[in-house]
Amino acid sequence: MERQIGGISAVTLAKEFGTPLYVYDKQIILQRINDLKEAFPQAHICYAIKANPNLSILKLIAQQGLGVDCSNRFELELAEKAGFDLKRSVFTSTNPSDEDLKKALSTGILMNLDHISIFRRLQKIGLPKKISFRINPGFGNGKFPEIDVGGKDAKFGMSEELATECYKLAKESGVQHFGIHMMTGSCILDEAYFEKLILTIETIAESIEKKVGITFEWMDIGGGIGVPYEPFEKPLNLKAVGERIQRVKKSPATLVLEPGRYIVAQSGTLLTKVTTIKEKFIGVDAGMTTLIRPMLYGAYHPIVLANDDALPETEKYTVVGPICESTDCFAKDRSLPKIKEGDILAIQIVGAYGFIMGSQYNGQPRAAEILVSNGLYSLIRKRETTEDLIRNETY
Ligand code: LLP
Repeated sequence: MERQIGGISAVTLAKEFGTPLYVYDKQIILQRINDLKEAFPQAHICYAIKANPNLSILKLIAQQGLGVDCSNRFELELAEKAGFDLKRSVFTSTNPSDEDLKKALSTGILMNLDHISIFRRLQKIGLPKKISFRINPGFGNGKFPEIDVGGKDAKFGMSEELATECYKLAKESGVQHFGIHMMTGSCILDEAYFEKLILTIETIAESIEKKVGITFEWMDIGGGIGVPYEPFEKPLNLKAVGERIQRVKKSPATLVLEPGRYIVAQSGTLLTKVTTIKEKFIGVDAGMTTLIRPMLYGAYHPIVLANDDALPETEKYTVVGPICESTDCFAKDRSLPKIKEGDILAIQIVGAYGFIMGSQYNGQPRAAEILVSNGLYSLIRKRETTEDLIRNETY
């Protein structure tokens, strides 16, 4: 059986558009947004644009009424183009430039600042109506050490003590509306952890409110909602997470969530053609320039034979790309059916941090992207060419 994506054969798409090819299923994105709205009816959801900033996908998400989380002026500009309401969105940056701050200020977005020095820089640019500071509670989580963004070695956020100083300074400067932010990690599949986050941020918020004499209107726990990638992982029971949060959250501040991965990860499939079979190695035309997660984090992505997904997995192969680096490996000793040259492999759950973390290294033009929905499909980004590799060069 040929693998279907959104009602279309993956092989048909690979033939028409070539490989490597990113394919996103619109219905899955809509379903994930629905899951979030149902599980967190009281929350304000801001999509973390960094997970997948393709404009067609951004427009789709903006149309569902979500806000957006941006981290620099370029993401802000993309969000504007996509039609997001930036007044109902958040700007959670790390080490922003003055230009980033200027742009953010001009949009009226709620800024989550990382340090008192950034607020001091912002004061020279202008006074925001509302402000939020990012707390590092001293612990973090995340599926890989690289995506754990809390604890003493993390560059993100600040201590409660410093945040208290920030709020005092902001209040004295005339800011009147306040939020508080605390994100500690990405790809978390533990229900209890989200409850712990709420309990922690509430305790910190209460103490700051008392010390500074302010009231928080927004309480933002960032992104972090995980999806299962590996066969042994269980999906998070989102409704249960929502209910647990509802039970423990006492503060009337609006809960803000910044999910990225949860909304787009499962919608994406990367189609790649087998070019070479060399003993245990299967060489494909996608590489670490197309999808870097396996090489950067040791991340697992399911791989299926798209031109016949019913064949039994009788073999073990190491799936590698065309890049001249030994790290250019998608999977080691992976169980797969017998593979032949010309087969199409589908690397799954690549909708988040997939295409966008790619590069043009080793003369690799970026892949094309397709959006499919109930049997219909459209090209949402053309495949790059050699011309794109040198587009901004002067010669
Ligand atoms: N908000 C902020 C401030 C963030 O830094 C992030 C992700 C998110 C929201 C969205 O988090 P999510 O819901 O996707 O967990 N490249 C890595 C993930 C890095 C996440 C960085 N920050 C990966 O491929 O797993």
